[in-house]
Amino acid sequence: MVSAACSKSDDYLNSATPEDVVTQSTLADTSKTDTSGTPVVPVPVIPGAVTLRNNVPFPVGAAVNINLLQNDTAYRALVSREFSSITAESKMKISALHPSENVYKWENADYLVDFALSQHMRVHGHTLIWGSSLPTWIKEFKGDSVAWENLFRDYIHTVVSHFKGRVASWDVVNEPFKDDGTLKSTLWSQKLGSDYIARAFIYAHEADPNAVLFLNDYGHEYGNNKRRGIISYVKGLVARGIPIHGIGMQMHARYNLDDNSFVKAITEVGATGLKVHISELDIALNPSSNKSLVLTPELLDLQAAKYKLVFKTYNSLPKSQQFGITTWNVTDGDSWIPDNYNRPDWPLLFDAHYNKKPAYAAVLEAVK
Ligand code: XIL
Repeated sequence: MVSAACSKSDDYLNSATPEDVVTQSTLADTSKTDTSGTPVVPVPVIPGAVTLRNNVPFPVGAAVNINLLQNDTAYRALVSREFSSITAESKMKISALHPSENVYKWENADYLVDFALSQHMRVHGHTLIWGSSLPTWIKEFKGDSVAWENLFRDYIHTVVSHFKGRVASWDVVNEPFKDDGTLKSTLWSQKLGSDYIARAFIYAHEADPNAVLFLNDYGHEYGNNKRRGIISYVKGLVARGIPIHGIGMQMHARYNLDDNSFVKAITEVGATGLKVHISELDIALNPSSNKSLVLTPELLDLQAAKYKLVFKTYNSLPKSQQFGITTWNVTDGDSWIPDNYNRPDWPLLFDAHYNKKPAYAAVLEAVK
C-alpha cells in the first residue's frame, strides 16, 4: 500500500522497469529484525516509480532522524522510496555512541543501519572526530598525551569495527577548518597536536580497510580561502600516503548565493581527483532570519534553480568521483534549520506534508 505521503503527487507513477520489480520483490521480506530484536518494518516501494533513487545516476542520500524513522510511517516510506543512501543525523556522533567512559550505546545506530540495509541503501557514517557534540566525560577527561591518544584511537577502532562491512564510508574528521583555511583549535587538536587528523584516518583505515574515508567541512561555496585551505591540506595528506579518499562538502547553502560560487566550489574540489560527497545539502530560503517571512512560489522557483545547478554541476564530475549528494534531513518539517537558527525556513526537496516541492522536479531535470 502506498502511504499517505505519496497520495498528493502521482506524477512519479509510470511503467515498471525490470530493476524496480527486482527492488520491490527484495523489499518484501518481513522477517527482518534489527540487532536488538525490534522488527524493521519493510516499506512498500512503488514499481516503476520515478524517484530520486531510481532516476538520479549517482547515490542520493538523506540525514535521517531515528525517532521519525521508527514512529512515522509516512516518513519511513518516503525515505525508503526516494533515497539510496542514509546518514544518521545524530545517532552516530560520539555523544550518542559513547555517552560515558565505560558505555557504548549501539541500539539506535544499529536500528538505522539495519533499516537501511533492509532497503538496499548505503550507510554513510557521520562522524568520528568532531570538536562539537562531545560528551561531558571527554570534555572533562584528565590524562597525559598517551592516555588521550589511547582514548582517541580506541574510540575510532571500536566504532569503525562495530559497523565494519555495514557502514560504507565515514566522515572521519568533521569541520576541522576555520573560515581562513587554517585549522581550528579544538579539544582534539589541543590534546593530540594538529596531526591528529592524519592519525584519525590511519586508525579508521586500520579498523575497516574497505571504508571510504572523508574529511567533511562546510563553507566551500562561501569563499576561496577556506576551500583552498582544505584542498591543499588534503593534498598534503594524500602525498604522505594517508588513507583519505574524499572530501565532504556540507553545502548548507542559501538560495541567493550566486551560481558561480557553487560551480567554482564543486569544480575545484573535483579537480583534486578524490571522491566528492555533497554531504549535507540544504538551500535555505530565509538566510536573513526574517521571523515573519512567508513562503512564495517565486522563492520556491529560485530554490529549485539552485538545486538544479548543484545537481547538474555535480553530475558533470567524473563518475568515479561521484560519491553522491545527501540532503541534511528529509522534509522542511524535520530540517534542523528552523530550530537551530530560530526562524521559519523551507530548505529541502519535500514540504512538511511530504509533498514534492518544485526543487524535486528540478533535480530530476538536472540529471536527465
Ligand atoms: C546538526 C543536527 O542536524 C542537529 O539536530 C543537532 O542539534 C546539531 O547538529 N554540520 C554537521 C551536522 O556536520 O552534524 C550538524 O547536524 C549540522 C551541521
